[in-house]
Amino acid sequence: MARKIMLTGAGSQLGRTIYALLKIQDDTEVLALRRDELDILDETAVRATVARLKPSVIINCAGFNDVVAAENRLATRLPVNTRGVFNLAKAAKEFRAYLCTFSSKFVFDGKKAQPYGEDDDYWPLNQYGLSKHGGEEMVGNLLENFLIIRSDLLYGGGNDFVSRIQRELEAGNPVKVSDDFFVAPTYLGDLAAATLALVYEWAVGIYHYTNDAGNGINCYEFARAIAELSDLDASLLRAVPVLETGCGAPLSLPPRAILSVERFREMFPALVRPWREALAAYLLR
Ligand SMILES: NC(=O)c1ccc[n+]([C@@H]2O[C@H](COP(=O)([O-])OP(=O)(O)OC[C@H]3O[C@@H](n4cnc5c(N)ncnc54)[C@H](OP(=O)(O)O)[C@@H]3O)[C@@H](O)[C@H]2O)c1
Repeated sequence: MARKIMLTGAGSQLGRTIYALLKIQDDTEVLALRRDELDILDETAVRATVARLKPSVIINCAGFNDVVAAENRLATRLPVNTRGVFNLAKAAKEFRAYLCTFSSKFVFDGKKAQPYGEDDDYWPLNQYGLSKHGGEEMVGNLLENFLIIRSDLLYGGGNDFVSRIQRELEAGNPVKVSDDFFVAPTYLGDLAAATLALVYEWAVGIYHYTNDAGNGINCYEFARAIAELSDLDASLLRAVPVLETGCGAPLSLPPRAILSVERFREMFPALVRPWREALAAYLLR
């Protein structure tokens, strides 16, 4: 069946990446809407747009991801993660669309020794995590035909951890990077491909997708790999506790919230690759 896909938050780094993949699909019509074309906090506009466009699929990439600003309650746009998602879920239910939206490892407390499965108990430690979990609840409570993809530390959009490390090292600046905060860094192109694989299978429920980092790597290790692959001076990197990087206090961060990708891997084993391979493919492209 041909799909008519409405992409919200199309100006996001993930939205732009998914759009680039959707454009080359034969059996898909794509309607990409940036925030200035559809503010998902505007319930009336969301309903009217879904009623008019009648998409079979909505992929929502709109979100507020500034974890520190969210904690300081400076983020008046944080409700996009909850109320915005709720507005889309209501319209998806009324007009019988399949809704795909994104969540985060921040729904977990990061105290488990092993990677978290999709059905593990959530326990968000901060406002951002609470908002993402709120969005998940709204979707799960309203819809049967939904897909939630949780992911971790995205890069490849040009304004991210990778480009920040490169910029600082190119300028010869020392950079403090945490060695007690663990991540599974994920290339946007891989997440976009994984998303379309799930959407085209009409997968339902929650799925985790990250590049494979085993039980996680710390940010210092990630930064070292960026430096080495970019031929930059890794000796400028300083391993410090996350509290000393400036993005810890007054936040509670989940120290090791790594997402298990086994549910996804069972369906699409070829689409899960090691984090270092993904980073090299991106930096050496
Ligand atoms: N970035 C990560 O490391 C990461 C990790 C895990 C999960 N995720 C999730 O993946 C998704 C995409 O993240 P991203 O990093 O690609 O996002 P991003 O680049 O930070 O972009 C967020 C987008 O959302 C738009 N937006 C904000 N409020 C909106 C509203 N009310 N209506 C419509 N659009 C709105 C913004 O528009 P303006 O630019 O006009 O404000 C922006 O284009 C999010 O759900 C995020 O939580 C991200």
